[in-house]
Amino acid sequence: MSDDDQCPVKDWATDYDIMDPDYVCDPVPVWKELRESCPIAHTTRWGGSWLPTKYADLQAMVRMVPELSSRSPAVIPPAPELRAELVAELKEYGSENPPITADPPEQIAYRRLILPFFTPKAVEVHREFTARLCHELIDRFIDAGSCDAAADYAQQIPPRVIAQMLGIDPGRGDEFTEWTRGVLELGQTRPELRRKYRLVIRDFFAALVTERRSSPGEDMVSKLIKSEIDGEPLSDHTVIGMCNLLLVAGIDTTWSSIGAALWHFAGHPDDRRRLAREPELFGTAIEEMLRFYSPVTMARKVTAPVTVGDADFVPGDKVLLNFPAANHDPEVFENPDEVVLDRQRNRHIAFGVGIHRCAGSNLARMEMDVALRIWFDRLPEFKLSAPAKVTWAGGQVRGPRSVPVVFPV
Ligand code: HEM
Repeated sequence: MSDDDQCPVKDWATDYDIMDPDYVCDPVPVWKELRESCPIAHTTRWGGSWLPTKYADLQAMVRMVPELSSRSPAVIPPAPELRAELVAELKEYGSENPPITADPPEQIAYRRLILPFFTPKAVEVHREFTARLCHELIDRFIDAGSCDAAADYAQQIPPRVIAQMLGIDPGRGDEFTEWTRGVLELGQTRPELRRKYRLVIRDFFAALVTERRSSPGEDMVSKLIKSEIDGEPLSDHTVIGMCNLLLVAGIDTTWSSIGAALWHFAGHPDDRRRLAREPELFGTAIEEMLRFYSPVTMARKVTAPVTVGDADFVPGDKVLLNFPAANHDPEVFENPDEVVLDRQRNRHIAFGVGIHRCAGSNLARMEMDVALRIWFDRLPEFKLSAPAKVTWAGGQVRGPRSVPVVFPV
């Protein structure tokens, strides 16, 4: 992080800051202004990047393969010392966490291996576990009349569900959250944390892969170990990288979406009452939450000169795939900056679009559906107890990290 990264922004078109605290809390006004004045903004902060804001530009950019490569999709590049380690590792082994860090043709083969675990049918198997977990979490605080809807509820669900799928102890959920936040959230601006937790996760999965090789089960890790690409078994490095991705990709993202929805309903009593009264709206309401509070921004590295609108990308540039801003584009969404619980036309791209579209979207939707329905069933009346104490995280994954609420006992 340089001193320049920390100065206040004077001009969002030429000097935006994705970590600016006001932007992290509410980026919608900035996107609106940029879309109208400079739809692809630029900054030299955080290693330098471009920020598109229009849906059509995002749709075009995800198709620019291989000119826009997925090999380093972190929104904020790693610090030089970690970068050197990553480069050495990539030279030795290839892609770090495939398929998200791979380009075609390899990306397609890796993606095919994980998709069967995330079909609607495969995900349904975990609905009962998820429901039981949500009830247990609510049992812990329902008599107190208050809780932190982000930390005590939303955050607790995805690490345990993905642990269950990977065949690892869901009781270690808190550790998985700490590691994921260390890599994806806190580690963005603190390189020592990013490095530490990256190694913790890799060591954990290295030990697990060794264990599952000697005593395989029916879990996802054991099945990945047995997988082949073109008749060749996957290397340990690849299995470890894929497990790392599944753990990390499924935690902050889904937690952010459940948390943002609870934050919304806690602060918008009309919407909360309507959803409690009309539960048939859960389907469209969840899609609207995903659209309005889309958590994920990914990055691409430019490998060949490309021009989009007025922006000329050159090799080495970083482009942020700002799916969240695209989902507020008035050319595609009517009244984009309003939450409409029964929105009918909602072709949002919160899960990305194109060849890297989220492999876990069915799982994320199932978790949101279970978490929100059970919450509304048991705590239909809730509100923010201390709006000033709500905190948000931003960058790669945006979502509320603390949402104190109260409800009648
Ligand atoms: C609300 C929750 C989630 C959101 C908003 C989300 C969003 C995204 C986005 C935007 C991408 C595209 C990346 C790109 O274009 O570079 C992506 C990819 C991916 N996501 Fe998710 N995700 C969520 C939950 C999950 C879950 C629960 C899992 C599984 C545990 C998961 C696994 C993946 C994987 C494996 C990829 C890479 C696919 C590929 O490169 O082919 N995600 N996700």
